[in-house]
Amino acid sequence: MVKPPSFLSAIFGEDVKIKEERPKVTLTFAQSLDAKIAGVGGKQLILSGRESMVMTHWMRTMHDGIMVGVGTALSDDPQLNTRHLPAGVPHSLPIPIVMDRRCRLAVDCKLIRNYAEGKGRQPWVICSKTDDGEILERKERLESAGARIIESDDNELPGVLHTLHSLGIQSLMVEGGAQIIDSFVKSGLVDRLVVTVAPVVVGPLGIGYSLDPASLAKLSFQASEGMGIDHVISFLSR
Ligand SMILES: NC(=O)c1ccc[n+]([C@@H]2O[C@H](COP(=O)([O-])OP(=O)(O)OC[C@H]3O[C@@H](n4cnc5c(N)ncnc54)[C@H](OP(=O)(O)O)[C@@H]3O)[C@@H](O)[C@H]2O)c1
Repeated sequence: MVKPPSFLSAIFGEDVKIKEERPKVTLTFAQSLDAKIAGVGGKQLILSGRESMVMTHWMRTMHDGIMVGVGTALSDDPQLNTRHLPAGVPHSLPIPIVMDRRCRLAVDCKLIRNYAEGKGRQPWVICSKTDDGEILERKERLESAGARIIESDDNELPGVLHTLHSLGIQSLMVEGGAQIIDSFVKSGLVDRLVVTVAPVVVGPLGIGYSLDPASLAKLSFQASEGMGIDHVISFLSR
């Protein structure tokens, strides 16, 4: 795939209108048939097949920022880059953003290492304003290691999104995990939802997510497509 799949061009061809000064938000994740996003105890599962994984990496190039919660950053140590795209294809790389009230992100995580080695963009860490000594120490260590610290009022989403917008993030791809998915859906701040459904069953001990029905009602089906053995379904806020 040397250019974005036509599915992405089609779904992003339809624009969303928002009134607030905030980035447009795409919430996206891969789930099993039984709606799990991770294995027992939060063990990372590679649910997406090759085709839908490449599609997700293309989708990353269509956003200014890519966000995960610190739970995902600690358990999966993600790179949030576009390494599955063919080499040499020009594209932009989103800024990795971690929601991390207490600055728990590891200073030697791949996001910070990639930045230090010139292989990734500077990670932004959104943390709460505090005078707690331990958190301030961790904040300083993260900053010294290369992260950009952005302070917020207890990571409340409307405020965080407003700040990100003021810093130039006009489009934000939110990749999870479970708590971040819940927060975004509950807050009604999801403009697009793109779910990859993999034909596997994880079982009741896997990690699921809950989607607030009232907020979900604001999203309507947009398109779906089979990619390899997966199915990708897109919803749009209208
Ligand atoms: N299948 C997929 O597509 C996919 C994608 C990503 C992750 N995952 C899986 O998801 C699991 C991790 O999920 P998780 O729920 O443990 O962690 P998470 O959602 O990644 O992160 C949750 C943490 O983020 C912090 N946070 C800061 N601001 C927040 C806000 N406004 N709302 C919610 N959280 C906020 C909180 O910690 P503080 O209070 O300390 O800040 C919270 O504990 C992993 O097992 C991972 O493999 C799956």
